[in-house]
Amino acid sequence: MKTIWVLNGPNLNMLGSREVDVYGTLTLNAITLLLQEKAKELGVNIDCYQTNDEGDFITRVHESGSKATGLIINPGAWTHYSIAVRDALACIDIPKIEVHISNVYARESFRHTSLIAPVCTGQISGLGVDGYLLALEYLAK
Ligand code: DQA
Repeated sequence: MKTIWVLNGPNLNMLGSREVDVYGTLTLNAITLLLQEKAKELGVNIDCYQTNDEGDFITRVHESGSKATGLIINPGAWTHYSIAVRDALACIDIPKIEVHISNVYARESFRHTSLIAPVCTGQISGLGVDGYLLALEYLAK
């Protein structure tokens, strides 16, 4: 059975109350429940994790390389400046989908650069919470 890991980075634990005009009103817990339901429907295992600690995040990325068959990753602001997160993703050889709830290309210019896009299989940006569910569907195939 496929095992998909979902890794969320800094400030995503604040979803539901954080800039609701940009990120919507669903909490990270609610998103996790939606992903678990979808995973059941698709017949795959899922493991969801969030951290505000970059070192912890990088360790999880490394671990996903041997423990998961696919990775859904939203590194939040690290997307735009963390070479360390980019290098961690380059270390692992499983399909990786970068997800952003908001359309980062329609926002401030500092969000227009993704250091991780070149080392990910694909990117979904701006589809809200559906981005996670679509990435799961893709990785479950
Ligand atoms: C985000 C977009 C990032 O620019 C921002 O720093 C986030 C969330 C998104 O999901 O839209 O924390 O990754």
